[in-house]
Amino acid sequence: MSEPLILGIESTCDETGVALVRGRELLGDVVATSMDEYARFGGIIPEIASRAHLQAFVPTLDAALDRAGVALAEVDAVAVSAGPGLIGSLTVGISAAKALAVSLGKPLYGVNHVIGHLAVDELVDGPLPERFIGLIVSGGHSNLLSIRDIATDVVELGGTLDDAAGEAFDKVGRLLGLPYPGGPHVDRLSRAGRAEAIRFPRGLAAGKDKHRHRYDFSFSGLKTAVARYVESVEDTGGQVPREDVCAGFSEAVNDSLTAKAVQACLDHDCGTLVVGGGFSANSRLRELAAERCAEAGLRLRIPPLRYCTDNGAQIAALGAAAVRAGVAPSPLDFAPDSSMPLGVTVAH
Ligand code: KG4
Ligand code: ZN
Repeated sequence: MSEPLILGIESTCDETGVALVRGRELLGDVVATSMDEYARFGGIIPEIASRAHLQAFVPTLDAALDRAGVALAEVDAVAVSAGPGLIGSLTVGISAAKALAVSLGKPLYGVNHVIGHLAVDELVDGPLPERFIGLIVSGGHSNLLSIRDIATDVVELGGTLDDAAGEAFDKVGRLLGLPYPGGPHVDRLSRAGRAEAIRFPRGLAAGKDKHRHRYDFSFSGLKTAVARYVESVEDTGGQVPREDVCAGFSEAVNDSLTAKAVQACLDHDCGTLVVGGGFSANSRLRELAAERCAEAGLRLRIPPLRYCTDNGAQIAALGAAAVRAGVAPSPLDFAPDSSMPLGVTVAH
């Protein structure tokens, strides 16, 4: 008998994603985004995002079914992001998922979007190992997780005390006058700079904090240090060396992320590090993670870029894992949870 066909729906932020997964095979996925609407505001406007989800949902669903070559009636279970995310955006996707599950008479799984960023790797690299460390980095999250089973046993080791990695990049992009979202622009400029030219601080890496916040991150002090540096150069009428600033800043962020992720693997006797989330597009993160994992004898798994940014496949993959593990479906009256905790994989 073939494995169940899972419909995955993602709508936590600005992407409307729909995907179909059978077992660990991705049959088709389509993503629509309203990101282009935000450049002039310098940030996402939740009300615009919610309306864009409403407009995009049905065409995105139709396109995903078409691409996968399946009919809606064949779907065995529906998975949807239950949180964390923008409440209006979540409400649109969850309402659609509930309507579909009821009309099809199939179970519904409200799953954790953040954990989905790791689950999606199963569709690319095959089954996840029995134990591994997950590093999730995006515009909204920077977390280290210890995982025994992606559907049932996820423990948060630490997270950012302030800005997420992508958020810090976006803020530095803004203070250097780069377009929103700044992350990819800062990354591009950093390739032309010298990482050692300006040494910016590594948050929580020294003193008492080093122990107390062993697996936590902090990037707001670093961002302030960059702002002070830029101001001091401008005050003296100098030209800000943007490439070197970006390179030094990127090195500081990625040094913290990769050092702590490798440390978590060693402390927990895990041989594999899985990295996910939109910030894993960052070129220096990929380089440094590969270098440090190789040195420590760890296997590194990072999905291809299109599965690092928000998409329906991550939700379908986690839904499939929940079905496989025999997790009970969510009740039909479960609510969107804008700050869904990382210890909860499926909403109940
Ligand atoms: O996961 P994602 O698509 O959206 C959520 O945050 O949910 O992540 C987007 C974040 C943005 O902050 C964006 O600027 C950042 O990831 N980002 C990058 C790069 N590509 C995307 N930051 C640094 N370097 C990149 N190459
Ligand atoms: Zn995300």
